Amino acid sequence: MEVVVIGAGVAGLGVAWRLASAGCRVRVLERARPGAGASTAAAGMLAPVSEAELIEDSALELKLESLRRWPGFVASLEAASGVELEYRGDGTLVVALDRDDAEQVRRHYERMVELGLPASWVSGEEARGMEPLLSPTIPAAISIPSDHQVDPLRLIEALVVAVERAGGVIESGVEVEEIEVWGGAARGVVGRGADGAEARWAAEVVVVAAGAWTRRLRGLPGRLGRAIRPVKGQMMALLMEPEPVLRRVVRAPECYLIPRRDGRLILGATSEERGFDERLTAGGMFELLRGAWETLPITYELPLLRSWTGLRPAALDNEPLLGQTSVSGLVMAGGLYRNGILLTPITADVVSEAVLSGAQPALAAHLSPRRLE
Ligand code: FAD
Ligand code: GLY
Repeated sequence: MEVVVIGAGVAGLGVAWRLASAGCRVRVLERARPGAGASTAAAGMLAPVSEAELIEDSALELKLESLRRWPGFVASLEAASGVELEYRGDGTLVVALDRDDAEQVRRHYERMVELGLPASWVSGEEARGMEPLLSPTIPAAISIPSDHQVDPLRLIEALVVAVERAGGVIESGVEVEEIEVWGGAARGVVGRGADGAEARWAAEVVVVAAGAWTRRLRGLPGRLGRAIRPVKGQMMALLMEPEPVLRRVVRAPECYLIPRRDGRLILGATSEERGFDERLTAGGMFELLRGAWETLPITYELPLLRSWTGLRPAALDNEPLLGQTSVSGLVMAGGLYRNGILLTPITADVVSEAVLSGAQPALAAHLSPRRLE
């Protein structure tokens, strides 16, 4: 089967790896370079429990299932690529900074208990026993042993190697403009090759994994072309020296802090509806630094390494769009919003199953793109 995948983020590369491994002839077309979109901007938290919504989340079971698949995914991707993913199983602490926050965090905790999620309530003292440099004013926290992290840069690097070793082709600097559809079926894509010349790629199946830029593609059915919007996140990296200042991921009301083995402390993230404006702002940086300082005062002393932004691909209902559209051979791996790194294994499995079977997988029956056509 000849498959074209539009976009080399975690969604496109994960699906491409599965399909190439299953014997399909796979070509991934990427506008810039692999990971150039949200995927390398991400924090890398695998956090279905700490990000569980107080309201109904129809994708929660999918997120939990993806978390369960992560250890096996790490083992097979590391074996296929030879790249270590820096998957860390140290868990997460969700902290309250004052008594008002504590009420909110308590409601969050009660919701986790109601949903049967693994979480325990700890006092401020117990939290500081786990992470000694946390602010002395923190009154309470939730300890979530199952929410882990991975390094998204390593993840992209590994997926690129794995796709190519499985026989897939990744073309960078290629912009797809339109999906060709006739007779009710996708036939390929047209766009501009790396040399800027118009080009056409024929395919039996087209997988749309273009992240927040999906809305710029022509040829999607009905309202699907407008169904995904960009949600900006601003991020920053500090250098932990001379030694790590945290062991596990810490989430506070205004920011999260993620220690990496290479000494970086990642701070994130704002959440802004600003269209395709990818600029950093003074206010965004200020919010992150203030939130980090209130949570972990030592951050005040740490050298600043760099800051960046990314655009999360969010669907109209903020839930993923996975699987078959109403057009035969046109499949989506999109709308991964705040959880695309967490959802990488399940997206690869579900969307490749949709391509190979031509049907909507049961696990993602309610996440079919058809709901927003
Ligand atoms: P992208 O990574 O955006 O990839 C789409 C690719 O398609 C891009 O490389 C782009 O260049 C390419 N493309 C677009 N249009 C075209 C075209 N016309 N032709 C060719 N190529 C095209 N998720 C988590 O699970 N945990 C986290 O901790 C986390 N933190 C985040 C922090 C921030 C600041 C942000 C922004 C996101 C975060 N996310 C996190 C979410 C996660 O990053 C995304 O859900 C995920 O990366 C989406 O992957 P994707 O492959 O769908 O899109
Ligand atoms: N999941 C973290 C973020 O999107 O910022």
